[in-house]
Order: sequence, then C-alpha cells, then structure tokens
Amino acid sequence: MEEALRSFFLRLAQNQAMIGWAKRYGLRFGANRFVAGETIESAIAAVAELNRQGIAVTLDHLGEFVADEAEARAAADYCVKTLEAIHSASVDSSLSLKLTQLGLDIRRELCLENIRMILDAASAYKLWVNIDMEDFSRCQATLDIFRELAASYDNVQTVIQAYLYRSLDDVKALAEMGASIRLVKGAYKEPETVAYPDKADVDGNYVRMLDVHLPSPGLTSIATHDEQIIDYAKRAIAKQGIAKDKYEFQMLYGIRTDLQQALAKEGHPVRVYVPYGDDWYGYFMRRLAERPANVEFVLKGVIHS
Ligand code: FDA
Repeated sequence: MEEALRSFFLRLAQNQAMIGWAKRYGLRFGANRFVAGETIESAIAAVAELNRQGIAVTLDHLGEFVADEAEARAAADYCVKTLEAIHSASVDSSLSLKLTQLGLDIRRELCLENIRMILDAASAYKLWVNIDMEDFSRCQATLDIFRELAASYDNVQTVIQAYLYRSLDDVKALAEMGASIRLVKGAYKEPETVAYPDKADVDGNYVRMLDVHLPSPGLTSIATHDEQIIDYAKRAIAKQGIAKDKYEFQMLYGIRTDLQQALAKEGHPVRVYVPYGDDWYGYFMRRLAERPANVEFVLKGVIHS
C-alpha cells in the first residue's frame, strides 16, 4: 500500500496540468509546512529565523522541467535576485537550483550560460551554489556540467543519490577531484534497472558513499533525516577528527526541526534547505511520496482551504 501511494505521488509530481493549476492557485493543502511562502521576503524571513537558531540555510527558488527559453532565462534572473537578497539581508545562506529550471531540457548551451551567470553573481557575493540532482535521465548531463563548472569555480557543489547503482563510483571519482558533495538517498521514481529497489540497500550505499567522501578534501553535506545514518556519521566524524568546515548536516525545511536544533546545539554545522516560490507542487508531491503519513496534512489543508 505504502509503495502504491509512493508511486502515485511521484507520478503526480510530474503532471503538467496539476503544476499549472498549483501555480495559479497558490500554496494549498498544507504545502506551507514544507515551503517558506511564495515571495523572496517570506523566504528571507525564514532564513533569518533559522540563522537565529544557529542554523545555516540553502535557499531554493522552486522551479524545474522548464520547456521554454524565456522561462529558463527568467528563472536564472530569479536565482540572481535570490543571491542579491541573501547578500543585502546579510543572512547565512547558499543557493540551490535545478538545471532543468535553467533550460537543460531545451539546450545545453542555454543552461550553461544561465548557470555561469548565476555563479558569477555568487562569486562576487562569496556565496555557494548547489546543483540539485534530478531524475536518472539527467544525471550524466548534470555531472558533466558540474565537472566543467568546478574547473573554473570554487563555490559550486552537486548532489549524489544513494539509490543509484552508479553512485558509489561517482562519489569515488568526485572525492578524488576534491569536489564538494551533498549526499542524499534520492527522491525520484526510478526503475530497478538503475536504482536499488530496497530501502536497506539504499541505506547501505549511503553509508559506503559517506565513508568514501568524508575523509576527502571537499565538503561533505550529509543530507538526511535518518537518525541511524546521522549517528553513524557523528561517530565517523569524531573518530576521524573531521574539521567543522569539511562537513555539515543538511535537512529539509519543516522536517525533523527537533533534530535540526539538537544537532546545532551539539555544535555540529547544520544547514536547512528552504524552498520558496509558486512552483511548489512537484516538490510537495515528492515530500508526500517520502512519507505517505503526510497525507494527513493534505486532508487538513483541504478542510481548511
Ligand atoms: P528516509 O526517507 O529513510 O527518512 C528517515 C526519516 O526522516 C523518516 O523516518 C521520517 O522521520 C523523516 N522523513 C523523511 N522524509 C520525510 C517527509 N517527507 N516528511 C516527514 N518526515 C520525513 N533528493 C534528490 O533526489 N535530489 C536532490 O538534489 C535532493 N536534495 C536534498 C537536499 C536536502 C537538504 C535533503 C535533506 C534532501 C534532499 N533530497 C534530494 C531528498 C532525499 O533524496 C530524500 O528523498 C529525503 O531526504 C528523504 O530521505 P531521508 O534521507 O530523510 O531518509
């Protein structure tokens, strides 16, 4: 039953009619538990509140699977606007983005032009940019673009997903080049031909990737709410004496805030991924797919809307 619900929400996540509808009607169905509003002002307020608790942020102006060039350029401009807002509010935040938001599905060159413009602005403000990892069909293209950018920018990070069979080899190669990486389990619907179908295998692969990347020169962002993996990471960090500028724990806005605060109080670097904007629908569906118990929030949202 849980697997059927998971598949259902992951299919809904890419439904174009629903995406258009959601943009027109604004945050609904309890999505504001996971999304910090639709405006840059609401996002910066959420960042400032987390910073007050000793927690850093990575801000994501929501958007993905863009099929129109003008829309991709507008999304890139919005990323720069977000960087400007972070800088002028003097808050502690990096920027996260998706390459399909910047035109990866339209033309590689358009996407590269957009991401370079964003990285130039980020470099001027001394801010980091993280390239999120999307579904498997975009994985190789994303890593190729990341490698190209990492050769000329020192403020760019990307993401590796533990559910993919290929990921351990990717982490080894990236660790060797000293790249900074966010490790996640993976949030998309992938076939057994490319991804582990069993959660235990995904968790096992996560720990193997962590073991490889933690001692490498790049930053390891341990992005999970899984307490067993977090405890394992804490022990490995203590045993290997990993410096605080070489690792951080990352979690999503609105998920396990108790754990976020506890880790920060223990003195660990913690960063929360804060999404904002009107393109909230796909992101929200993936959060429901991860934990169908969240459907309760949807039902409450329907009743109150
Ligand atoms: P797992 O799913 O095993 O959950 C462990 C525990 O966390 C659960 O028992 C529950 O308590 C809590 N939990 C997890 N999800 C929840 C939810 N939706 N609602 C309520 N509680 C929940 N993925 C991707 O493919 N590309 C990317 O670029 C990113 N980027 C990213 C950034 C950051 C900062 C994080 C934390 C995660 C991502 N992800 C991602 C998402 C990631 O792949 C994964 O889907 C989620 O983190 C959920 O997996 P966990 O590691 O938390 O483990």
